[in-house]
Amino acid sequence: MSVKDEYEAAGQAHLFYHWESLSEHEREQLLSNLARTDPLKLKECYKEAVRLVEGNVLNMDEVQPLPKGSYESVIDNSKDLNSRYESLGMEALRNGEVAVVLMAGGQGTRLGSSLPKGCYDVGLPSKKSLFQIQAERLQKLQELAGCLKPIPWYIMTSKLTRSATEEFFKKNKYFGLSEKQVRFFNQGTVPALDSSGEHLMLESRTELVESPDGNGGLYRALKNNKILEELLLNGIKHIHMYCVDNVLVKLADPVFLGYAIHHGFDVATKVVRKRDAHESVGLIVSKKHKPSVIEYYEISKELAEAIDESCGLLKLRAANIVNHYYSVALLKEKLDLWCEHMPYHIAKKKINYYDAGTNKIMKPDKVNGTKLEQFIFDVFDTIPIDKFGCLEVERSEEFSPLKNGPGSVNDNPETARLAYLRLGTKWLRNVGAHVDEGVLVEVSSSLSYNGESLGSYKGKSFHKSGEYIA
Ligand code: UD1
Repeated sequence: MSVKDEYEAAGQAHLFYHWESLSEHEREQLLSNLARTDPLKLKECYKEAVRLVEGNVLNMDEVQPLPKGSYESVIDNSKDLNSRYESLGMEALRNGEVAVVLMAGGQGTRLGSSLPKGCYDVGLPSKKSLFQIQAERLQKLQELAGCLKPIPWYIMTSKLTRSATEEFFKKNKYFGLSEKQVRFFNQGTVPALDSSGEHLMLESRTELVESPDGNGGLYRALKNNKILEELLLNGIKHIHMYCVDNVLVKLADPVFLGYAIHHGFDVATKVVRKRDAHESVGLIVSKKHKPSVIEYYEISKELAEAIDESCGLLKLRAANIVNHYYSVALLKEKLDLWCEHMPYHIAKKKINYYDAGTNKIMKPDKVNGTKLEQFIFDVFDTIPIDKFGCLEVERSEEFSPLKNGPGSVNDNPETARLAYLRLGTKWLRNVGAHVDEGVLVEVSSSLSYNGESLGSYKGKSFHKSGEYIA
């Protein structure tokens, strides 16, 4: 069957309404683009995603907090235990056993910026972008750990963010990192469907509308780009994976690495205490006795608000901040399986499309389409619960995500900027600097990873906001 016949038989004849007006070359382009997708399989993925939502009514008894063996808090741990973890993590870093993987392939539509999210400047006095803050942290950590070789930084981009991201790094001379330690790789894309889930959409006369396949596309991207082979070849044993939008993220945090290494976990994840019962975050839980993440829209009000009587806190309070640890040995064992078996989720969106009937680009003002996405955490339930660890960390030190545009209610450039400045100011006060009440100072991420190296500021005074120390 020809590609055209296959598509027409699958109910996609609308993709060819302009066929007669296409040049020979355009016809070839259209057919070769369409040949990359199996329209029937795609519609099946959509139907499965719908079934997943319908079958996903969680009842109270199926979802519990993780058991004690899988849960610890750096806030409650003794200083001594945390520093033992830190030493273990530093040792792994020093020995070149750790790589960092950043997920930066999302479109960041909620933020409303045309550049990739990592290029965003949240308005710090230094005007640094998220990428710069992260690159400097990595370099500072390398120095603190006394790494024998640079920590590899793998940056997952998508067709939509790749060239802008790479150009940004080049223009900024890799923010002082060695060019060789940064490797970009692309995640895949999936064609979008209309609201009914029945019809594919054209983006232009010859191309389908496609979007990144979700942060769960990471696993296929690791496989297809031969990153796993590279990790094994280079003796990497531990991976820290995180997402680009957290201004406070601690790349390759030695305490977190040490926690996972000490307990021999295959997968571990960092969480913060949920801000309130209805914060829009995923929760790390035990679902039917398996480690899982449930998204905020999957749980009932009753479950979201349930209180743990023993401490008066929310019963389900372990908020997912997308900082995950993986042992490379586990990836070697499971990657193929994960790539085959991950489900898709549905995201209803407003999608611009080319209407072959009228030869026009349509810009709908209402939701008209469906994007399919995979979620990185959908593999967690394949890990035995005693091989899965969850570490609670202090929100004000580790999590302030940039999700929404300026002026929005929360998780926006203003909250990210404040969180960053408050943390630096706290570090300065901790070493004995005098910072006037209400004054906020920026501490460069190349100067301090976690409040260390600031002893020379003891006794110094800061009277006005907007100062930047580097
Ligand atoms: C995510 C988590 C949610 C968590 C919240 C905390 C997932 C699926 N959900 O939600 O549980 O509480 O962060 O901030 O992990 N990305 C890609 N490629 C894509 C899509 C996203 O690389 O195709 C990256 C984004 O660039 C971003 C990260 O993944 O760095 C998070 O993705 P996003 O889809 O925005 O997840 P949230 O809805 O914020």
